[in-house]
Amino acid sequence: DAADKKSRLLEVNKVAAGYFYMKLRSPAGQHGLAYLKGRGLSDETMKNFGLGYADKYRNDLYNYLKKKGYADDLLKDSGLFHFDERRGFSDKFWNRVMYPIMDASSRVIGFGGRVMGEGEPKYLNSPETEIFNKSRNLYGLHVARRTRRKNFIICEGYMDVISMHQAGYTNAVASLGTALTSQQCSLMSRFTKQVLVIYDMDGAGVKAALRAIPMLRQAGLSTKVVDLKPHKDPDEFLKAEGAEAFEERLERAENSFMFVIRMLEAEHDMSDPEDKSRFFHECAAKIVEIEDEIERKSYIDAVAARYNIDVDLLNSQVNKEALKGI
Ligand code: UTP
Ligand code: MN
Ligand code: MN
Ligand code: MN
Ligand code: MN
Repeated sequence: DAADKKSRLLEVNKVAAGYFYMKLRSPAGQHGLAYLKGRGLSDETMKNFGLGYADKYRNDLYNYLKKKGYADDLLKDSGLFHFDERRGFSDKFWNRVMYPIMDASSRVIGFGGRVMGEGEPKYLNSPETEIFNKSRNLYGLHVARRTRRKNFIICEGYMDVISMHQAGYTNAVASLGTALTSQQCSLMSRFTKQVLVIYDMDGAGVKAALRAIPMLRQAGLSTKVVDLKPHKDPDEFLKAEGAEAFEERLERAENSFMFVIRMLEAEHDMSDPEDKSRFFHECAAKIVEIEDEIERKSYIDAVAARYNIDVDLLNSQVNKEALKGI
C-alpha cells in the first residue's frame, strides 16, 4: 500500500545518502572533499549535514542499489534516476557534491547536487516524489526546530544554511530552490514567532523578499529583513567578515514594512514632485493593508519622519485609501 511504498522510498533515499557519504570519503571523492573544504566546511559540518559525493560514472548508484536488491519499479519512483525504455536507467546525479535533504524528522527525502566549480545547472535537485514535496519542507528544519535561538532565519541556499549553522546560527533554514510557500511559512510558525529574511543581495533576492514578507505576516510571523551588502549571501558574508560582524547585521535588521517602503522609494524620483506624490499615494495604499491600528499609526509616523512629509497629510491619505476598499 501507499504507506509501505513511502517507507521503501525513504529506505532507498537513505541508502543512497549513505553511499554518497561513503564516496566522499573514498579516493573517488577526493575532488569533492577538496571542493567542500575549499568552501570552508569542517569535517564536523559535513558530517552533520550528511554531505556526500556522486561519482562521475552514470550508473554508479544504480549498480549499487541493484546489488542491494532494490526493484526497478521502486527505483523508477525514487527520483534518483533517469529512465528511458531503450537505454534503461542512468543516475540523475553524477560528478556532484551531494546535499541530502531531510524532513523535520531527519529522514532523507531527496537531494541537491552541486557542480564543483562553474557549470549548468549549478544545483540539480530531486524531482517531487511520493516522499519529497518541496513546498512542504525546509532545508535545515530538522536542526532548526531544536534551536535555542529566539527566531528563525530564512535564506536562499543550501550553502547559506550550512555556513550559518557552522557559525552557530542553527536557526537557519532555506526554501528548496523554489519561492517560499504558505505551507513553509506555517511550518516555521510551529517553532518560532519571528523570522529574519536574508535573501541574496541581488534583484532576485529583493523580489523574493518582497513576496515572502506578506506570506510570513499572514502566517502570524513577525518579520525583519537583514542587509548583508556589499556581500552577496550569508555564506559569502560569513566567509568574508565572520560571525561577530554577522551578529551585528542581525541586530540591525530592518522592520519588514519599512523595508518594503524603502524598496518602493527606490522606484521613484523623489526630486520630482509628481513622482514623489505617487510614492506617498503608494505608501498610503501599503499602510492601509496593515490591519492592526496601533501598528498602522506607527508606520504613518515612521514614514512621515523618514521621508519628511506632514503626518496629518499622510494620515488623511491613508484614510482615503481605507475608504476605497469599502
Ligand atoms: P544561488 O544561485 O544563490 O546559489 O541559488 P547559492 O546557494 O549561493 O550557491 P553557491 O554558494 O554558489 O553554492 C540559491 C538556491 O537556489 C537553488 C538552490 O537551492 C540554491 O542553494 N538553485 C540554484 C537550484 O536549485 N538550482 C540552480 O541551478 C541554482
Ligand atoms: Mn541567489
Ligand atoms: Mn546565493
Ligand atoms: Mn552562495
Ligand atoms: Mn510606482
